[in-house]
Amino acid sequence: MRLKNLLGIRDLDTEDILQILDTAVLMKPIMETKNKRTNYLLGKIMVTLFYEPSTRTRVSFELAAKYLGATTTNISTSASSVVKGETLIDTARTLQAMGVDIVVMRHPMTAAHRLLARHLDAVIINAGDGINEHPTQALLDMFTIREKKGTLKGLKVVIAGDILHSRVARSNIWGLTKLGARVVLAGPATLIPKGIGNMGVEVYHDLRQAAVDADVIMGLRIQLERQKSGLFPSLREYNMLFGIDERVLEVAKEDVLVMHPGPTNRGVEMSSEIIDGENSAIEEQVTNGVAVRMALLYMLTREGVS
Ligand code: CP
Repeated sequence: MRLKNLLGIRDLDTEDILQILDTAVLMKPIMETKNKRTNYLLGKIMVTLFYEPSTRTRVSFELAAKYLGATTTNISTSASSVVKGETLIDTARTLQAMGVDIVVMRHPMTAAHRLLARHLDAVIINAGDGINEHPTQALLDMFTIREKKGTLKGLKVVIAGDILHSRVARSNIWGLTKLGARVVLAGPATLIPKGIGNMGVEVYHDLRQAAVDADVIMGLRIQLERQKSGLFPSLREYNMLFGIDERVLEVAKEDVLVMHPGPTNRGVEMSSEIIDGENSAIEEQVTNGVAVRMALLYMLTREGVS
């Protein structure tokens, strides 16, 4: 791996991304073995430090590290000395003093990981920084698309919903455009950041128009916890205009892949029929998340592993 840390997809070039996806292909069969155990990370210690809630990302990092033979521990910030006023840097230095090799962190502040990387020798992995990036989610999304479609080059990928508050959307835009996909954003004008067209994407405010001949449609969670009020009239009206349902799928390609990073708000950004339907890859995304995180942990700690 060319880089010491994974801070954002923005920092990766096309070769880096393909190398991670190719390594994940090799890691996935380990999850299907009886023991689910290798020694690639034996002697390594990984801490998950999450300042925001998580189910998928935190657990899949823990499982990925365990499958590779690492020791893992989780810090719940609400039950740690963070609540006594300890700073992020002091918390991280404390962990490093205990011999931690890898810090996987989710933090509400954009670029908090870059600050951490300047102060720590340990490998830093961004598990989500505010509305900025969620690089491992984008990597597992790209892995899932490539596994299903064979390539990303030339595919039309529609990302729909709350783009403004979505770190998943930003990381996917960086990655998908680097791998040659055509990225189309769809959402209400209040939830599309101004100037996002400069990232090489097309913008629509009509989901059905955006979805014509789509190869992939990725729904995003409405992030009410990050929103000011008044960005759309009501969840019901949002669903009527931007919910992904049969009417949207009928204009896309017949084998369109439906994706969502989770957690989903059923009946808001996507109907239950679509979430559980035959085009949905949502559960496979979760499975692939473990394989991709195994690949990253392996690649970022490879030096010095005997
Ligand atoms: N996709 C995602 O980041 O999910 P969690 O918040 O459950 O980790």
